[in-house]
Amino acid sequence: VQAQALEEIKACEDLQQLQQIRITTLGKKGPIQSLMTMMKDLSPEEKPAFGQEVNECKKAVAAAIEAKMAVLEKAAMNRKLEEEKIDITLPGVPFRTGTLHPLTLISQEIEDLFIGMGYTVAEGPEVELDFYNFERANIPADHPARDMQDTFYINPKELLRTHTTAIQMRELEKAQGQLPIKVICPGKVYRRDNDDATHSHQFMQAEGLVVGENITLTDLKGTLQFMADRMFGEGRQIRFRPSYFQFTEPSVEVDVSCHICGGKGCPVCKGTGWIEVLGAGMVHPNVLEMAGFDSTKCSGFAFGVGIERVAMLKYGVDDIRNFYINDTRFLKMFDRFD
Ligand code: PHE
Repeated sequence: VQAQALEEIKACEDLQQLQQIRITTLGKKGPIQSLMTMMKDLSPEEKPAFGQEVNECKKAVAAAIEAKMAVLEKAAMNRKLEEEKIDITLPGVPFRTGTLHPLTLISQEIEDLFIGMGYTVAEGPEVELDFYNFERANIPADHPARDMQDTFYINPKELLRTHTTAIQMRELEKAQGQLPIKVICPGKVYRRDNDDATHSHQFMQAEGLVVGENITLTDLKGTLQFMADRMFGEGRQIRFRPSYFQFTEPSVEVDVSCHICGGKGCPVCKGTGWIEVLGAGMVHPNVLEMAGFDSTKCSGFAFGVGIERVAMLKYGVDDIRNFYINDTRFLKMFDRFD
């Protein structure tokens, strides 16, 4: 019995089959068990020796099964590991990552170039107090200039900021009279406009503010010239046209020579050779005084540029709504890592 069982175990190469062998040989109806039952027919003298032999047979068979079981389990595990091995040298399946939004790219570019000139970046709340958006910017209640910036009011005191000038007014106050101030303030702004190819009720601005001793219009021009060169390519010319803002005096509208035709005249600049890009001016003395500065001892310049406008000119985008409908075919064009 034992020899036959051991033979079967040795030949077995399958775990399930081995389980079966265990049941048939060691089980209640198996040959070893029937040897046990045969014992009752033996004489008392024969019983111990026979019993011992059967027991040893049982132990030997059980041990053989255990040993074989271990071998087969190990083999199964090895096979599994082999099958599941990952070949890390195979080329991967590329998956698409998101990309930075073109407006983010432009605003980072502007931030970087001003950080390079020693400015710090400042942000502020989009839900702003009327106080910082208008009052501090020298636009008192009921002043007609408020109509220039059709405003989303939340309540009589709070609104969605209409310009990043509100951030500048906060920065002026924060400085507590300490000079100099050099900040660049990017952010979203909101105005009640009907959306079309050139208007969006939400858009982005970046405003710069410098306050110190003897800051002049020339400093403003040099700064904006540098920005124009960096944003639109070397050799751009800029020109100032007189304009009006409540918070600056004098105020200017700034044009950059067309980066497409180089100033000769093309559809982008409507044949004029110039493109209007931003508003700027010298900080109004009232604005300085309201924030606690002595306007006879310091001066400053400020400018505000529309991020969409720069992006449209730089990338040749003809409809501002493209920036807001999030069509991935449009956004993907700005993927620098593709
Ligand atoms: N705040 C102005 C606007 O929203 C832009 C501007 C900023 C003009 C700073 C002058 C100085 O149009």
